[in-house]
Amino acid sequence: MRFSDAFLDEIRARLPISQVVGRHVHWDRKRSHPSRGDYWACCPFHHEKTPSFHVDDRKGYYYCFGCHAKGDHFRFLVEKEGLSFTEAVARLAEEAGLELPKPDPRETERQERRLGLMEVLEEAASFYQKQFLDPANAEARAYAEQRGLRLETISTFRIGFAPDARDALLKHFRRKGVSEELLAEAGLIAVPEDGGKPYDRFRHRLMFPIRDARGRVIAFGGRALGEARAKYLNSPETPVFHKSNVLFNLDLARKPAFERGEVIAVEGYMDVIALHQAGIHHVVAPLGTALTESQLAMLWRMAAQPVMCFDGDMAGRKAAWRALETALPHLKPGHSLRFAFLPEGMDPDDMVRTEGGAAFLAVVEQAEALIDFLFRHATEGRRLKTPEEKAALEADVEALAGRIQDARVRQHYLMELRDRLRALFGRGGGHGSSRRWPARPAARNREWPSRFAPPPSARLKQHAHGVESLGPLAEQDVLRALLLRPALIADTAEALADFPFSSRALDSLAQAILHICHAADGGGSAPLETEDLLAHLQDGDRKTARRLLAQGGRRRLSSFLKPDVDEAVRGLVARLEEMHRERMLRRELALAEAAWREEQSEEALARLQQVRGELDALLLAGEEDG
Ligand code: UTP
Ligand code: MN
Repeated sequence: MRFSDAFLDEIRARLPISQVVGRHVHWDRKRSHPSRGDYWACCPFHHEKTPSFHVDDRKGYYYCFGCHAKGDHFRFLVEKEGLSFTEAVARLAEEAGLELPKPDPRETERQERRLGLMEVLEEAASFYQKQFLDPANAEARAYAEQRGLRLETISTFRIGFAPDARDALLKHFRRKGVSEELLAEAGLIAVPEDGGKPYDRFRHRLMFPIRDARGRVIAFGGRALGEARAKYLNSPETPVFHKSNVLFNLDLARKPAFERGEVIAVEGYMDVIALHQAGIHHVVAPLGTALTESQLAMLWRMAAQPVMCFDGDMAGRKAAWRALETALPHLKPGHSLRFAFLPEGMDPDDMVRTEGGAAFLAVVEQAEALIDFLFRHATEGRRLKTPEEKAALEADVEALAGRIQDARVRQHYLMELRDRLRALFGRGGGHGSSRRWPARPAARNREWPSRFAPPPSARLKQHAHGVESLGPLAEQDVLRALLLRPALIADTAEALADFPFSSRALDSLAQAILHICHAADGGGSAPLETEDLLAHLQDGDRKTARRLLAQGGRRRLSSFLKPDVDEAVRGLVARLEEMHRERMLRRELALAEAAWREEQSEEALARLQQVRGELDALLLAGEEDG
């Protein structure tokens, strides 16, 4: 049932959203300001220790800076308690002391109309099926046979045939007393604008009914038997068919996909059908267009990492890249896409027919992770001789990662991509990360025309000086600790690689240590003892290491040995990681601020506020711990 906006607004006005949300969270007293209708809590939609879930009574809205869950009163109950929208409205209306409005007669009418359309479409599917079996239409059966379709498959997919006549379907429905208006609305006939006679939309085509998630026919795709101007013709958009919200074969694929935790998306109807016939049932296809966001969401409901399957040629690569670009902003922890490329010039239908289902599954098995495809596509065929060329690649790759909305995933992408770039550029160039220190946001603030500058939050102002450094002594402590406990190096690799040591000697030693451990990943075993590690170091770095160990002296070393070296080292390492995260966020903040200066768009502002919120939360956690 549809409710009027006025009615929903009335509920929102009567019930503070904090009252609705408050039953599911504990407010953070320190951060919340009830008098301003401003509340913070740990997010009820993802696991976290510090509150990044914000509720604003005045706006009637909640938003999580961590997982980006957001919405109003109703959305909250839908997401949190699994109510339907109608149920959520009913519940809150009662709580607000409002009576539910009587069903809107126009809505009832629309509902009936949709049912009428569905009936007509169902009847059309039966009509095409009968035509397929009609002795007069032997060519349809010959074509299906030539394409390797078995009778069982034809019946499962309800494949039919639209005869080569101007108005076969129209006549059929006329006899049944169905109006032309309804047929036109269902997309089954076309009515010429110049007042000419209406005619069947689909003629001389093999017909594939397109079914909704519940298996009801909502549209058709028609394949020309011979050479025709359009190889495939699809139903137009109708009240029951919105192409961008539909996946072909979703109804049959959903269960097997969910059970396997895997779903495959291919490009064509025939691909889906041929795979199904080969016993591969967890397959769907978008309808001849690039993957849309809503199709992506449907795929993610079936499996965490849907496999997108493309032809190995340029067109396939292009389509895959478009899918990647669609997915990028929506990547979530654990949620990604994988990409499988078939041998050039082959689609899944060709492949199962010539090489069998197992060969196809082997290709799917080897699907490339999204990050691998991204990096390969971004770097392949690029000249990387000069610093400018390298910088351009770095900027491109970071811009791609910057499109990821989920902060956690984005940061992992940035880290991973930096590692890969570093490996790609070779280690000769050397001091890397320390050069990439972010511009200090505080200094930049002053350049802002004040009317454009959203005021920084209090916490950020307090910390406007940026990341405090560990201090040279603590930096030495960290390295000394790792020299003493080489087994811990692997755990700190990310943070260490990006740490801006204040001296060249320490930076060089850190990079060398990482390099040794990294090389060990490739087969050898990582050094577990200080002496092994020293043996692997080059002269200069070894000198630094020995100096550190010696300087540590008995007094400083003993502070490590009591009560427990590993614990002390882990403490330092944790601190290193926290600083690493803060540095990344500050860097993002600088980028977000730059973007905001460039264009004062809502999007830029949202991003800026999001990064600030995250940084705020991190600093808050730091204060509480420290
Ligand atoms: P393909 O051209 O790859 O077709 O289009 P296919 O699936 O291999 O078909 P066959 O094997 O030649 O019969 C893939 C999908 O793109 C859409 C259809 O949904 C098709 O399944 N398409 C293609 C159209 O909508 N119109 C066209 O003219 C061609
Ligand atoms: Mn094909």
